[in-house]
Amino acid sequence: MNNIIFNLVKDTPQLVNTVFIVDRFDKLDKNIFSDREIDYIQHRIAQNARLIPLNYFYHWNFIVLSGTDESCGDELEAIRRTGAELAEKVKTNELDFLTIVDHTQKKETTAALVEGLVLASYSFNKFKKNDNSGKLFKRINIFNKDFTTADIDELEIMVQTVSFARDLVNEPASSLTATKFADELTRMAHMSGLSVELYRKEELKKMNMGGILSVNQGSEEPPVLIKLEWKHPKSKNKKPYAFVGKGVMYDSGGLSLKPTTKSMDYMKSDMAGGAAAAGLMFSIARNKLPIHAIALIPATDNRINSKAFAPGDVVTMHNGKTVEVMNTDAEGRMILADALSLIDKHEPEFVLSIATLTGSASRAVGPYGIVAMGNAKQKYFDQLEESGEKTYERIVQFPFWDDYATMLKSDIADLKNIGGESAGAITAGKFLENFTSHPFIHLDIAGVAYTHTPRDYYKFGATGVGIRLLYDFVKSLTK
Ligand code: BES
Ligand code: MN
Ligand code: ZN
Repeated sequence: MNNIIFNLVKDTPQLVNTVFIVDRFDKLDKNIFSDREIDYIQHRIAQNARLIPLNYFYHWNFIVLSGTDESCGDELEAIRRTGAELAEKVKTNELDFLTIVDHTQKKETTAALVEGLVLASYSFNKFKKNDNSGKLFKRINIFNKDFTTADIDELEIMVQTVSFARDLVNEPASSLTATKFADELTRMAHMSGLSVELYRKEELKKMNMGGILSVNQGSEEPPVLIKLEWKHPKSKNKKPYAFVGKGVMYDSGGLSLKPTTKSMDYMKSDMAGGAAAAGLMFSIARNKLPIHAIALIPATDNRINSKAFAPGDVVTMHNGKTVEVMNTDAEGRMILADALSLIDKHEPEFVLSIATLTGSASRAVGPYGIVAMGNAKQKYFDQLEESGEKTYERIVQFPFWDDYATMLKSDIADLKNIGGESAGAITAGKFLENFTSHPFIHLDIAGVAYTHTPRDYYKFGATGVGIRLLYDFVKSLTK
């Protein structure tokens, strides 16, 4: 992760490495552009170019067109994608700073361009011996009268927490154990003013966290449950917003071993929900949102040794319910269940779980959507949908009918940890519902957490999806 410095500039910027965001019908400033340049720009606009680079020997300027076109019907997302195109130019020409001048003077437009630009500039190359990524892009100046320093900070914090989460997800499980993950989150929590509490193996035993402990049984690495809390003295919500994120550091499938090709290869990313929940908490704290929020992240890997939990085992969970394990690869729900029952004691206004939970969700919506479901009031889902469109981290709401719960019936225990052949994403959500008595929202990010086919501002690997969505969601709840 490369830290980029953000700057709010108040005076007329020097016209070097400047990006002019213009509306398709804007008049270009004759004090800035020559007639020949304006001719050229108009010509490129007529050809539907969104990004028009202008080279001046030692520096570049760029024209960015706002508005939609046939490649993307969403205005902000179109700008983000142009930001990604701009990132390519920045890289190939080794520019170390850019000044963004927004002639449309819309806050969201500038913010979206910066998001696309910075998210696309992300790279994970700490393991490359010869890191020839060139000169680093270091600084973004923003010239936009609508922007306050708080806006700039918010934008900077957002791209930083997303990059931080991507780093964690991209980090191999060999170097990011549950303990190391907890260390990293603790370090960030201290830097952001969050309170943090860690429950280690011995405490988890005393707390009867059967779900977390059973998944951890086959591992040499101890588990840890990470609790992050933010309580603003002038909190607008009396009951806390609760978040639970899946922190499976590596998912081998356990004894119900994953077939190695493809399915096991990227399972270092199985803690993406935990990273997103943590990233969300960091952004909430660093922006000092007037709310009360708690996140629990159960962290362990899912591996095999002679002590590994096995299909057929019956596990007593934290809330006392018994689960017949029918598949050790359905481990995420086992650890999330315990975290849900624990967080229930805080009497949350709602509890939201975010997890790379099922291949079923991924197959249903592919890399473009987050599967959402739950029993919370519809207004929460409507708001998630709206925040999803705004941030382009879009959700699709699945049914949550009780009929699906019958698929989890066990002959010998209260329930089993897998459903039937169909509706795998929903039965996973229904399983979790057994462990909370508060309004419940579940997000399955299995399809979107990690990209194999780079596109726009997502390079190969972790996407950091969930943070921008949930930050906007939480913010909108307190408005
Ligand atoms: N971590 C996986 C889900 C997953 C699959 C995430 C693909 C990202 C990409 C989860 O633990 C899992 O293995 N789920 C099983 C559940 C099944 C055994 C009921 C699945 O979806 O196959
Ligand atoms: Mn699994
Ligand atoms: Zn998993």
